[in-house]
Amino acid sequence: MPDVKNLGFGKYFSDHMFQLNYATSKGWHNGRITPYQPLAIDPAATVLHYGQALFEGMKCFRQTQGDLVLFRPEYNAMRLQNGADRLCMEAPPVEIMIEGIRQLVRVDQAWVPKERGSSLYLRPTLIGMEAFLGVRPASEYLFFVICSPVSSYYSEGADPIKIWVEDTFIRAAPGGLGATKAGANYAASLKAALVAKEKGYAQVLWQNVTHQSIEEVGTMNVFFVFENEIVTPALNGSILPGGVRDCVLKLLKHMGLPVTERELSMDEVRAAYQKGTLKEVFGTGTAAVISPVGELSSNSYKMVINEGVRGPIATELYNHITGIQYGEKEDIFGWVQKV
Ligand code: COI
Repeated sequence: MPDVKNLGFGKYFSDHMFQLNYATSKGWHNGRITPYQPLAIDPAATVLHYGQALFEGMKCFRQTQGDLVLFRPEYNAMRLQNGADRLCMEAPPVEIMIEGIRQLVRVDQAWVPKERGSSLYLRPTLIGMEAFLGVRPASEYLFFVICSPVSSYYSEGADPIKIWVEDTFIRAAPGGLGATKAGANYAASLKAALVAKEKGYAQVLWQNVTHQSIEEVGTMNVFFVFENEIVTPALNGSILPGGVRDCVLKLLKHMGLPVTERELSMDEVRAAYQKGTLKEVFGTGTAAVISPVGELSSNSYKMVINEGVRGPIATELYNHITGIQYGEKEDIFGWVQKV
């Protein structure tokens, strides 16, 4: 196990993986834990040509008292089912997926780091395996899970990141794949992220197809804290229904704060900024948990948010969610499950 200080995100992998096959004639079969190893894939497999590829991101934590727990595994398993339906793929039944993950984590439990802020990131992945070049859904699939010990996703850690407001590229469109964790969505995002990085920005803020409403930030959902309202874009079919987005909505309501899911434009955000009523902006995701945004800029404006430092709402949410994950705060919503 590498030193936790060097973990970063997704660089190291544990010793084992879970694999499970599907064929129309057999259903799901041959579930197994194997050494972490390269896959043998027919060069004609549908995943390689027509992008039948979906993934999930979830985490296993070593709690302060020593228990190993999964965070909301059903949420991810259900989202995989929904994504598989949209991509005309077969997804493993929820119970089988979670049981495979449990057994894998038990075998590789030495890979779950114990330091606060670190965890074992799990990457369930579903790919079309049938060797056939006609364009139609595959009749064979492979579901596998790999594990990566991780700490912070961004090199900024829990410090605010700088975001470029993207006004050329889009990530997803209504009726497309945006609400799924299709690998294709991430392929679509790379160009804009690269251009932003060259300008010194960690990621981009995605807008809808007409660039008139806000959708996501980088690989995360996004929240705006105004003086009298906290807003996240309503799920509209092109926004990913993030697990931490759902946690934040539940926690803010529980805290009695006024949170709204609705359409939101950069014009409205800029107007609030000018009036001084934009207090905080943060992204939410499994990898980064809560990632404050310290700057939102484009070719025509630059907004420094909360003086470029992490705000109180982002801090409270981060502490609350990680407190539940590490077993230091009461799990009032039943989000953690012992391995
Ligand atoms: C997450 O926030 O967990 C993500 O989806 C990021 C992942 C693509 C690295």
